[in-house]
Order: sequence, then C-alpha cells, then structure tokens
Amino acid sequence: MITRTAYDLDQFVADMTALLGTQPDQSDLFNRAASYLEKLIGNPTAIPEQFRRPVGTGKRANHGSYALYRGEGLFVSAVVWGPGDRVGPHDHQTWGLIGVMDNAIQETRYRRMDDRDKDGFAVLEQDRSVLVKPGDVSLLVPDIDEIHRMDNDSDRATVEIHVYGKDLVDLPRHRYDLATNRVIPFASERFDNC
Ligand SMILES: [Fe+2]
Repeated sequence: MITRTAYDLDQFVADMTALLGTQPDQSDLFNRAASYLEKLIGNPTAIPEQFRRPVGTGKRANHGSYALYRGEGLFVSAVVWGPGDRVGPHDHQTWGLIGVMDNAIQETRYRRMDDRDKDGFAVLEQDRSVLVKPGDVSLLVPDIDEIHRMDNDSDRATVEIHVYGKDLVDLPRHRYDLATNRVIPFASERFDNC
C-alpha cells in the first residue's frame, strides 16, 4: 500500500535546496519553485496555527510575518495581512514567489518608467492590479517586475507563504512615493518584511 503524506515545509525546503543546487536559470527556477509552492500552499496544515494570524501587538498589530526557514540563498516566511492591512509600493532586490493559502490579497504591480540615473527619484506606472486567491502564486522578477503594493480590503485575515533568494532582514531595499516620485531606502530590521 502506498501512503501519501501531505507536502510539508521540510519537503519544500528540500526540493528548493536541490533545485538551487542545480544553479537553474531564472525561468527554470520560477517554473519549478512555483510548482513546489503550489503544492505547499495546497496543504492546509503546512504552517502551524500561530503563524496564520496577525501578531496582535506593537505598531503593526494587524500584520504578521514569521520566518519559517532561513538558509543560504533561501528565505521562507509566512505573512498575514489582517483586515484592512496594507503596504505601499516597495521592491525586494531578489527573486521571490508569493503563494496565497487563505483568503485573498489585492496585489498591484508597477513598472518603472524613468531611466534610473537620478538618485532618489523614480517614475512608476501601474501595470496591473490582481486579486490573488488561494492556490495562486505570483512571481517577483528582479529589476523587471518586482515593485508592488498589497491591500487586504476584506474583513478577514489573508495568509501567504513568501519565498526569496535572499534574507530580507537588513537587505537594502526601496519604498516608492507615487505622489512625489521619491525613492526611500529602507531595510527591514526583522521579519516584518514582505
Ligand atoms: Fe513585497
């Protein structure tokens, strides 16, 4: 008899580690990593209950961000957006994948229209806005398609798993002010990143 066990975080990390070990090109990386992440978010028990709710205290009480795995060239976190939780346009400075496990998130993507030669200045144009649903995976493609804003306009929490090629803690990144075209450098001090 064949016993099938649910695809879990350990299996995901093992598959991703093996994949990264083959030094895949970007297209192979995204294709295979997305298929692994689809399996992981399809398992309702993939992450413990305490990582499926907003943190409940502090300045972002309605948000949750929990490191699930931190390794060389691979960072996996659970991100929870409480009702009304949102974040403005920002970049990631690494490849990434986001899979929605529960509820949905409105993800708005921007493309950069300026020639990037003026420090602290960027012109962004909205590319698309998509309601990303359970089972969906969206990709963050460095330099090409990695600036987004996230909004949970629903009345319940949205749970996601994020996967990145770099540890976002202390990684220099940018926020974008659409009204003034200012680029604001920042680095996440801990797992409150996304
Ligand atoms: Fe993000």
